[in-house]
Amino acid sequence: MKNFKFFSDSEIQILSDANKNKNYHHLKTDFEGFAKVMNLEILNKILSMPGLWNNQNFKMVLDRKAIGFNEFVTDGHKMGFSKNCPDPNKVQDYIRKGASLVLDDIIYVLKNVKDVASELQKITWGKCQANLYFSMQSHQAFGPHYDTHDVFALHCHGEKVWNIYENFEDNPINHPIFKLPLEERIEKAGKIKEQVLLKPGDLLYLPRGQYHDALASKNGAIHIAFGINYMKPIDMMQFIWNKLVINPYLRSDVKNVKSTSDIHAINKNIIKEIDKILNDKTLLTPLLNYYKEFPYDFVDYELGSIVEAGVQYTIPASIKLSNQNGQLIISNGKNSVPVPKKFEELTSYSFAEKNISIKKLNNNFQDLPESLIDEFIGAMKQMRVLS
Ligand SMILES: [Fe+2]
Repeated sequence: MKNFKFFSDSEIQILSDANKNKNYHHLKTDFEGFAKVMNLEILNKILSMPGLWNNQNFKMVLDRKAIGFNEFVTDGHKMGFSKNCPDPNKVQDYIRKGASLVLDDIIYVLKNVKDVASELQKITWGKCQANLYFSMQSHQAFGPHYDTHDVFALHCHGEKVWNIYENFEDNPINHPIFKLPLEERIEKAGKIKEQVLLKPGDLLYLPRGQYHDALASKNGAIHIAFGINYMKPIDMMQFIWNKLVINPYLRSDVKNVKSTSDIHAINKNIIKEIDKILNDKTLLTPLLNYYKEFPYDFVDYELGSIVEAGVQYTIPASIKLSNQNGQLIISNGKNSVPVPKKFEELTSYSFAEKNISIKKLNNNFQDLPESLIDEFIGAMKQMRVLS
């Protein structure tokens, strides 16, 4: 199958099926692989990097109430950093009292987290975000709720019991109408269908809308919740909106409405215009591309290959090379310069290639001294032929 570092072929199949059928699933994975993603040691390491954390991505909760960022922040003056971020002593004091820690958006913090997210994107074709939860022992359930995206909870340390309820909310999205008070959620969730005990290496897939909550954990339970959002018809409306704006009928003034039947007639015209827009073939390719490019493009730095290739130069399209009676001339439209004999070969090659580097020239002209190639690059840069 595709190149996967964490998930085996059979695990990919199980998760794809669960994802397709929107069935929650408890998967026991190969812990060896996932143990490298997160544990107490890695958590200590990333928490000890003050520059990473701020009031947007570092949250603490005690007895179900959020602790204000100001309660545990420091300017780092005494500790040798100079940025307002969480104070390790204050944070650990709260944890001793039983507080939980939530780190949002950790995909770019750890390469392995990014790689798991990337594999989940390939399995599901959604956009993946990852939040980490660290909690001390707790016997109180948060109360049943659903998430507005699919969740793949990867359990990394300690143990935690999750309640899965029998009911589902139908395709909820992140909008105020889907924020229900606790009593309503308890009523809508129904009975507990299954209690799942998560241990390190376990993955729990919860489809969007599935009522659940986490019941109890042993001290120091860590899980990473990978949340996945998919393209929805409602997202496609942004493409249609532009077409609505340029439609003269939809911009026309509504007047002389006397009854609901007049409104009905207007509605029929709107349907006609929208039908035309939705059948407009020019919309199909942009929408197809939107789907094809829907998952995030997680980017890694690859400095090794850049160092290996050396500095790259480009010749702008506005600069031309011509041959006038056997003499090579470089011209930018305003000024022309003759090319010295010793640079002729190098110049012709560079203009044919458009993109060059010292390494490329050295490889292609092994019989020329490196000093001549350096001189050539220097002269071309000075004349602004290279950018
Ligand atoms: Fe949840």
